[in-house]
Amino acid sequence: MARSVIGVIGGSGLYDLPGLEDAHWQRVESPWGEPSDELRFGTIAGRPIVFLPRHGRGHRVSPSDIDYRANIDALKRAGVTDIVSVSAVGSYREDLSPGTFVLVDQFVDRTVRRASSFFGKGCVAHVAFGHPTSPGLMDRLAAAAEAEAIPVVRGGTYVCMEGPQFSTLAESRAYKAQGFDVIGMTNMPEAKLAREAEIPYATVAMVTDYDCWHPDHDHVDVAQVIKVLTDNADKARRLVARFAADFPLEHPPCPVGADHALDFAVMTAPDR
Ligand code: ADE
Repeated sequence: MARSVIGVIGGSGLYDLPGLEDAHWQRVESPWGEPSDELRFGTIAGRPIVFLPRHGRGHRVSPSDIDYRANIDALKRAGVTDIVSVSAVGSYREDLSPGTFVLVDQFVDRTVRRASSFFGKGCVAHVAFGHPTSPGLMDRLAAAAEAEAIPVVRGGTYVCMEGPQFSTLAESRAYKAQGFDVIGMTNMPEAKLAREAEIPYATVAMVTDYDCWHPDHDHVDVAQVIKVLTDNADKARRLVARFAADFPLEHPPCPVGADHALDFAVMTAPDR
């Protein structure tokens, strides 16, 4: 079995992972393009960790301009076997108030201008994606949260919008009416590409706001997002550190087959 290497993709507010031992930044080249930043290699309790700030240090790369293929490819080349994405989201549920952590288990892709597959002309593949997140990783994240006394809500649907503008009131109401639980700008196509790269993926969604549907709360703005992220950054880091410290040294099989997603996915005949 392969040695576990945990990849952590840090979203808004998470540009480094304090507590990483023997840490160093290192550039990893990808033929797909430019990753958002160098990768931060280190260990936690002897477990190898590779951290990538999704928007780059200093938050330089907008959600639509992130090269998601280069990011996932760079993590794959770094040997990552499992990915945890930490992402700021708006909430469509009264009970998911700012500061709540949600382990989302479904995605709806509303993005329109992002390269979303490693496959295409010349080599066609269709990976199964009914379960886009790995229940094994979610179990471990839930256990880590419990051990750290951090409340988390398990399950929820994340709708991914293109951005970078936040939603209109009409869009916000429509997303809420459709039953989506949270909204963000980055987990698609990231999760799709992780599946094509055969890397199990899970998201810790950190609720920062009620988007703009809630009659008793201000419409979301950047100041609000940053304030809630800053207030909760320590919780996120503790959760990731405990998750990593308790992770098995050998990559455990993914219950939904994400780690061998290509076994029956390629349609193109091999060259003769
Ligand atoms: N990230 C944090 N809050 C958000 C919102 N309301 N819409 C889209 N992305 C977000």
